[in-house]
Amino acid sequence: MTSSDRLVLRRPDDWHVHLRDGAMLKAVLPATARTFARAIVMPNLRPPVTSVDEAVAYRARILAALPEGVSFQPLMTAYLTDAIDPGELDRGFREGVFSAAKLYPANATTNSAAGVSDLYNISAVLECMEAIDMPLLIHGEVTDPDVDVFDREAQFIERHLKPLRERHPRLRIILEHITTEEAVIYIRESYQGGDQRIAATITPHHLHLNRNAMFLGGLRSDFYCLPVVKRECHRRALVQAATSGLPCFFLGTDSAPHPRSGKDSACGCAGIFNAFHALESYATVFEQEGALDRLESFASEYGPHFYGLPLNADTVTLVRRDQPIPSRLLPPQSARVGDDTLPESEWPLLFHAGETLAWCVEINGHSGPN
Ligand code: NCD
Ligand code: ZN
Repeated sequence: MTSSDRLVLRRPDDWHVHLRDGAMLKAVLPATARTFARAIVMPNLRPPVTSVDEAVAYRARILAALPEGVSFQPLMTAYLTDAIDPGELDRGFREGVFSAAKLYPANATTNSAAGVSDLYNISAVLECMEAIDMPLLIHGEVTDPDVDVFDREAQFIERHLKPLRERHPRLRIILEHITTEEAVIYIRESYQGGDQRIAATITPHHLHLNRNAMFLGGLRSDFYCLPVVKRECHRRALVQAATSGLPCFFLGTDSAPHPRSGKDSACGCAGIFNAFHALESYATVFEQEGALDRLESFASEYGPHFYGLPLNADTVTLVRRDQPIPSRLLPPQSARVGDDTLPESEWPLLFHAGETLAWCVEINGHSGPN
């Protein structure tokens, strides 16, 4: 095995993940915690995480669900609503409970009904966040039903993001899971213009898929997520951004598991579950672009820099070895006892199911997620 067949990386973090709760949390957390040292945990539970106490309790449930011996730090976020109290955010941030706050435009995506209906409703909250330098994480899509689903991100930038940044120029913002060339250009030009207060995360699935995937041989809810995957030219722009070596683009998987019954339905849920092979998935794209030497900074450095957090000291190893991806991975039998267990039929479908990835993550000499 040559050195190009083994890639030792500083351990990465996931700057956007849905860990869910209850049985699903127990089922999916090991996948994230195995590879990633820290993760920004989305607050769109039912009901959403809107208070410091709820975040503390959710964090405790996550830590309790961790497999023994795995080190993982969940970074909690507050779900912004029209009525959220700036004092609550301020306290949560100062106490080190909240790492950021999440803006879901109301009804933009899964469990976002309680989100913000008008940015002006949270002006005081945004002023407070600006003052304490608390990052704002944005699901950047307009919800106007008259706007084509494929145009909603680009429209959000023009209608909401640019004016928001004029009103709150010091606010630190992450435009999450970007999907369009328009977003890439906006973030890149901001950065190159000397503005380091905005960055974007990019998911593995938006690097691999264009919108044809949703219609391959039939209607495929397994490739449906929000913001929805776009045309090939947008995927190419995202690949170039991720592999550009610019610090304003970094890793955020948006791994969003749903029970099979939620996906295999006439009205399939939005969300792709990629946590098991996320790093391998990114590595595949970086290798295709001849940019494997830039994977570490994208996965393990630019995120902590933006959040002002230390880099992880431990490492993970990517080994070049064919890895056939099954449609689902069940946890060890030991983790499948008790009431709080996801029925096998409800295990979420894995991203890349049926494909073979050319890389495996090895942790302490062990490969494979189980
Ligand atoms: C996410 C979910 O399922 O919670 N779905 C998705 O398609 N990405 C919500 C979100 O991040 O939009
Ligand atoms: Zn998400």
